[in-house]
Amino acid sequence: MGISVTCVDVDERKIENLKNGIIPIYEPGLEEMVHKNVKAGRLKFSTNLAEVLDDVEVVFSAVGTPPDEDGSADLKYVLAVAKNIGENIKKYTVVVTKSTVPVGTAKKVKATIQAELDKRGEQVEFDVASNPEFLKEGAAIKDFMSPDRVVVGVESDKARRRMARLYKPFMLVNDRLIFTDIPSAEMIKYAANSMLATRISFMNDIANLCELVGADVNMVRKGIGTDTRIGKKFLYAGCGYGGSCFPKDVKALIKTAQKVGYEMEVLQAVESVNEKQKSVLFNKLMNRFNGDIKGKTVAMWGLAFKPETDDMREAPALVLINKIIRAGGFVRVYDPIAMPECQRRIGDKVTYCKDMYETAIDAEALLLVTEWKEFRMPSYPVLAKAMVNKVIIDGRNIYDAKEVAENGFEYYKIG
Ligand code: UDX
Repeated sequence: MGISVTCVDVDERKIENLKNGIIPIYEPGLEEMVHKNVKAGRLKFSTNLAEVLDDVEVVFSAVGTPPDEDGSADLKYVLAVAKNIGENIKKYTVVVTKSTVPVGTAKKVKATIQAELDKRGEQVEFDVASNPEFLKEGAAIKDFMSPDRVVVGVESDKARRRMARLYKPFMLVNDRLIFTDIPSAEMIKYAANSMLATRISFMNDIANLCELVGADVNMVRKGIGTDTRIGKKFLYAGCGYGGSCFPKDVKALIKTAQKVGYEMEVLQAVESVNEKQKSVLFNKLMNRFNGDIKGKTVAMWGLAFKPETDDMREAPALVLINKIIRAGGFVRVYDPIAMPECQRRIGDKVTYCKDMYETAIDAEALLLVTEWKEFRMPSYPVLAKAMVNKVIIDGRNIYDAKEVAENGFEYYKIG
């Protein structure tokens, strides 16, 4: 039987497309999953929240919380949904916030729903809950189906029982359902993302220092990651973290703290290290060409902020492209999925190539920005033939320095 789900959005075109099986984003396995569930009659799409509310037990609000001018999370969409729910619920419903929202938002959602009920002069019982999302783009389905944990902040037993029943099918092997109070659940999401971003900035800082003192950050990573207290994951130095979560959530947590008179000094450093790190590949390129890349062509592999997605939000590639163009260089790019998204964002400032080797034609250097699998074992002879200079600058440390050198290339990596 499964659970019946109706997805609601105000964007009519998006809903119409979904009804026709067209998925608005690239996410491995998602299309098949949507088709399967639509066919089984479990998954529906609608633009009419009022109608849908008639027969649901739980509503998940998963609207965006873009940063406003000062970096705080903008709650206008979250509260608009709450208002709409308040205007329309008729029976006990648990209203769950999935969006990443600052501590205290559930209270505002509750007050907004209640205010609408008061206007209607009706008494309808409801609960609010906070259920932060931890899935990673590119691994969303796996992360959802077998989560490390599911965190749910509740304030009533009734809501807790309902949420436990909902998540039961995903908890058959390991019960990883953690109930907390609502403010803690709201904080957990920011704290988790901020901790992960901190690890990355820390390793980027260590990588930059490694270069100066002659150490190798890959060896350092292995050496420290085997300490079970540290752990192996999320210790990869690179050209900076991007995406829809880390940059936004780190900024928002800094702001939340400032609003209550507290300075998150560690996170401020995490942010500034990341900003600097996005320029690291450009700096290496400039160093290699003695500060002058005017008229030079550069090949770029990867545009998305990470592999298995077409997402370019806060992608290091964008910073890099802008800097190269400003310095008078030309960029030839290839990404397996994200080229249409790049074109939408920056138009034809760069040359879009049909495959990874086409980028190398007349290139004076190759920059590896996103570690897609297909970039891992390039044909060095093909590259050598196409390029003017045999220079590889690896922003994700995916190549073996010895092998690259044996093939006659100069090799620059991070740390
Ligand atoms: C992140 C969190 O991992 C997820 O739990 C949360 O729900 C949303 O935010 P996501 O943004 O999809 O997920 O990507 P993630 O895999 O975490 O990578 C974020 C960025 O960090 C990428 O730019 C990636 O390249 C970078 N990264 C990651 C590193 O530079 N080094 C690492 O070791 C890991």
